Order: sequence, then structure tokens, then C-alpha cells
Amino acid sequence: MTPELEEYLFAHSTKQSALLQYIEQKTNQLTTHPHMLSGALQGELLRMFSLMIKPRRILEIGTFTGYSANCLLGGLACDGELHTIEKNDELEDFLSEVLLDERIHLHIGDAKEVLKQLIDSQFDVVFIDADKREYVEYYNLVFPMVRPGGWILADNTVWDGHIIDPLYNNDKQTQGLQHFNDLIAGDDRVEKLMLPMRDGITLIYKKP
Ligand SMILES: C[S@@+](CC[C@H](N)C(=O)[O-])C[C@H]1O[C@@H](n2cnc3c(N)ncnc32)[C@H](O)[C@@H]1O
Repeated sequence: MTPELEEYLFAHSTKQSALLQYIEQKTNQLTTHPHMLSGALQGELLRMFSLMIKPRRILEIGTFTGYSANCLLGGLACDGELHTIEKNDELEDFLSEVLLDERIHLHIGDAKEVLKQLIDSQFDVVFIDADKREYVEYYNLVFPMVRPGGWILADNTVWDGHIIDPLYNNDKQTQGLQHFNDLIAGDDRVEKLMLPMRDGITLIYKKP
């Protein structure tokens, strides 16, 4: 997408809230990989998605600086819960500043361990956005926790085009995403759509 077209899309979409602007600004100042943040357009997609399905329980794997968590809150029921998991404990202080809604439950730890503690929970939406090498593992762990008729969203599934570039065939993160994309494509329990937005986001619907 050209910068001009991106600017046009921004200008004709809902503006970022002050909190999201603050998170983006601080992420640029304080972190070494600010590009990991969902950003305004994808964040708005997540917020719209949440408004459409009005979830009661959301799970996010990969909090980073809390941008997407605050977007996913958009349509969450008043008495709902959003659980978000982050491995990097250095982000905890900043997250306490920006995860202000009392419906948010932050879990600091490795997702594979935290998910075992949440095993009896049911979720309407799961957003997978952590280590690309572990997407298949996250999917297999969360699948039983998603209610029939619920959703899994997976970020970065196009991975800057590397998923179809032979130069990246030996790259572990690319391989992780290729395995994940192939698994989803062959899984008859779900409907799926790979959207080319930003770095690719896959919408996965668990058939009732
Ligand atoms: C791409 S960023 C998440 C971006 C965030 N969802 C957003 O859109 O603003 C990925 C995050 O996942 C975290 N992460 C990586 N592996 C993890 C794991 N095994 N368990 C929990 N978090 C993990 C990283 O520390 C990083 O903060």
C-alpha cells in the first residue's frame, strides 16, 4: 500500500483514541521493536470485530504494550473478561499504566504455561499474536477453549510475504507460520479467511 493510500484510509476511518495514541507514542520511544504493535488500522479492525460479535470472554496471547488489548475491549460485555498473556515481565510497569479497565486480567508468563491454568475457561474470541514458531502449539491448546461458534484471530500470517518466499524456507519463524497456515487450511472444524491487512491476519471461525 502506498503511504498516500494509507493516509487516505486513516483520514476516512475512526480516529485513534487518546489512550491508543499515547500507547503508540510510548511504544516508539521505549521499545526496540515498535513495529510489533497492531497500529491504527488493524487496531480499528479488532475493535470493529469486537463490536460486531460482542464477546463476553476474550483471550489474547502476546500483550506487548497493550495496544490490541485496548482495541479488543471495544465490544466486550460490561461484565465480561479479557485475559491477556505476556512473557516479557519488563513490560509489566508500563502495562499497569495502560491496561486500566477492570475487566482486563494480565497474566505475566509463558503462554504455554498460563494456558494450562486457563484450561477450564471458555472464550468467544482468541487473538494469537506471540512467538511465530509456537502458533501451532497455541492453536492446539486454545482450540478446546473456544466455544462452538467462537473465533480465533491470528496475526502476522503473511509475515512480510516470507511465507511464499523460498529465501525464507529455513527461517524458523517463517516455518512456524507456514505450518500454522497449512494446519488451518486443512482443518475442517473451522471456516477461515486470510486477510492481507498489514502483515496478514487470519479470521478463523469454529463451526458450531
Ligand atoms: C507482536 S507482539 C504483540 C503485539 C500486540 N498484540 C499488539 O498488537 O499491540 C508479541 C508479544 O508476544 C510476546 N511473547 C512472545 N512469546 C510469548 C510466549 N511464549 N508467551 C507469552 N508472550 C509471548 C512478546 O514478548 C511480545 O511482547
